[in-house]
Amino acid sequence: MEAPITFVDDRLLRKVPSWRTYLAAKLGFRNHWYPIKLSREIGESQIVTATLCGENILLKRIDGKVYALRDRCIHRGVPFSEKLECYTKGTITCWYHGFTYKWETGELCDILASPDSKAIGRQSVKSYPVQEAKGAVFVFMGDDDVKPHPLCEDVPPMFLDEDLALEGDSYMVQSNWRVGCENGFDGLHVYIHRTSPLVNDTQRSLPVGHTANSGQIVLHEVDGQPKGVYDEFAHHVSLWEGQVEGDVVVRGVRNTRTDGVPTRTTAASLWLPGVLRVDDFPDAGRHQFEWYVPVSEDEHYYLIMIGKRVTNPQEALDHEQEFWNRWKPVSLDGFNNQDIEARLALQKFYGRDSAWLQEMLIEGDHPIIKWRELCHRHNRGVQRPDHL
Ligand code: FES
Ligand SMILES: [Fe+2]
Repeated sequence: MEAPITFVDDRLLRKVPSWRTYLAAKLGFRNHWYPIKLSREIGESQIVTATLCGENILLKRIDGKVYALRDRCIHRGVPFSEKLECYTKGTITCWYHGFTYKWETGELCDILASPDSKAIGRQSVKSYPVQEAKGAVFVFMGDDDVKPHPLCEDVPPMFLDEDLALEGDSYMVQSNWRVGCENGFDGLHVYIHRTSPLVNDTQRSLPVGHTANSGQIVLHEVDGQPKGVYDEFAHHVSLWEGQVEGDVVVRGVRNTRTDGVPTRTTAASLWLPGVLRVDDFPDAGRHQFEWYVPVSEDEHYYLIMIGKRVTNPQEALDHEQEFWNRWKPVSLDGFNNQDIEARLALQKFYGRDSAWLQEMLIEGDHPIIKWRELCHRHNRGVQRPDHL
């Protein structure tokens, strides 16, 4: 049974019964897989620090496999990362009194300053399950007594498909992870992107918004499968002009590509524990995945990966080059940077718990409420300050 939520004002929680655990999940959800680094960022023998859902973590690759330990000695709580000491390939020693732990299991295997302690072999520092997939390192932010769910339940459908080549890059964004999710999935925020260089680069069409009854989202809630909300853009009735008092003040962009390729994004979907998939973006035949990974209450790790189906290694290489030569400057730094800007502004408001009750959402925001409710129904636990 879920422990009572004591770290968010109960009066606020009672006002949003259908998504109260989402309101409480400032630090994210427990017992889910989150990407924490790109694989290329952890070389053999390298020790790397990261923070996930408020927990400081150390990662090390040993003989190709990545291990993760909590960056906090069980003896007096000091971070190992203050002064890294590793005397053997498979162990890490705390610099303060020499408590030594195995990377593979977290087991306390020696104490250099007290080798006959009864604690040796009986205690351990928290070790996190790690899995690498598609060039990203995933960590299961779980309770010790919970067996990790299969990774495929915590990533959007298609992400793990063998023929999907993926390349990506990451940013640290100073906003809560929920603000990231809701910015990415927000159907009305297309409004901010009309000035992006991506519009011309891909000769895409970009409306200024869509009509109030456009939202026809589909919920994916099948046991053993990823849980998400799916917004098919075919249902959107696009608006191409923005008017103030009857005068057109802003125009969307309508393009027809000479090669006949469609220039519209076809769908956006948002999946637990906080990952967006955008289909036919940044161009036809591409799928963009965006993770909003909780770091702290006011920071998230923003991992963007672009996928393309390929049939051979050369096509995968071409996709990788296209990512760095084209999508990174034009789309990530020229389109998603507009999202980052919006999130920084949103955070000034949503950084307060009470703000979530002060917002005034409209018809087109309906999918966002569906997302909050889905999270409430299917999360596997809320990360609490007392976990830290
Ligand atoms: S605090 Fe780490 S060994 Fe004492
Ligand atoms: Fe956006």
